[in-house]
Amino acid sequence: MHAIGIDIGGTKIAGALVDEKGQIVTQLRKPTPAGDSKALEDIVVDMINELADGTDAVAAGVAAAGFIDATQSIVYYAPNINWRHEPFRDKLEKRVSVPVIIENDANAAGWAEFRFGAGKNTSDMVMLTIGTGVGGAIVANDRLFRGGFGAGAELGHMRVVPNGLPCGCGANGCIEQYGSGRALQRFANTLADAGGIGQALADVRSKNGNYLHGKDIGDLVDQDDPGALQALRQLGDWLGQACASFAAILDPQVFVFGGGVASAGEKLLAPVRQAFLQTLPARGYHPEPEFRIAELVNDAGVVGAADVARQHAVATAK
Ligand code: BGC
Ligand code: NA
Ligand code: ZN
Repeated sequence: MHAIGIDIGGTKIAGALVDEKGQIVTQLRKPTPAGDSKALEDIVVDMINELADGTDAVAAGVAAAGFIDATQSIVYYAPNINWRHEPFRDKLEKRVSVPVIIENDANAAGWAEFRFGAGKNTSDMVMLTIGTGVGGAIVANDRLFRGGFGAGAELGHMRVVPNGLPCGCGANGCIEQYGSGRALQRFANTLADAGGIGQALADVRSKNGNYLHGKDIGDLVDQDDPGALQALRQLGDWLGQACASFAAILDPQVFVFGGGVASAGEKLLAPVRQAFLQTLPARGYHPEPEFRIAELVNDAGVVGAADVARQHAVATAK
């Protein structure tokens, strides 16, 4: 039995037909249209129809970056896109032949890692996706946690600084402002301004019209540039402290890191672990979780969205 997964990212929309083992059978990719929600809807509709055509696909799951309602129909609020109470499921179901559910993007990725990737063989797992925002997924007792109204596990909006930087969610001081790809850019820009170890960051920034791209920071991290590594350490420090709080609440066996910034691998995890251990409540008196990088990388969103949709379809058919 197959299902379709769609992952709406900031730059691209990925779609796939996925089997029960999480294997991708067919895959599609389109750039995300800028600021035009009808164009976005059209692309998602075309993808679902194309992927479903001539197959036994039972459902489609659509992963989106925002707060989703309990019926998995409405995007209540998307901090980094202009969706407010967007009835996306209804809009899509009118135009496709399979039932649709909407899933939070990080929940989808986390579920995929739990079922088929870095969280296999655990019962309790927390995933953080480090990209434009900070996404969160909680698997507790083998189940994806959604909260009472559907919009739980928004781990990126835990407040870590009282009255700190304003966040796209409308609040202030969220970990998203200190632990995301955008925060990494901010740390790197500050280091570039200061010169010294930030010189290579400053050089690549001035080559690109005074803009420091995430990709350029990543390249410098790969080359072990001291400035880029310092920016990454700052990011890891914030994330590690946040994980200590998450651990006190959720006690996961594993923390999984995904999203673009997680491609830094151990260079990200080392400072995360260090800050985690320095701030973990009751440290030394209880078991400590492992920190791992996501295994499904770019496929986690589509694979997880498809799996959630397939399970939902099976459960509602009973
Ligand atoms: C949103 C989440 C999303 C995350 C990653 C956050 O700003 O609130 O819903 O999972 O970004 O895209
Ligand atoms: Na989430
Ligand atoms: Zn926030």
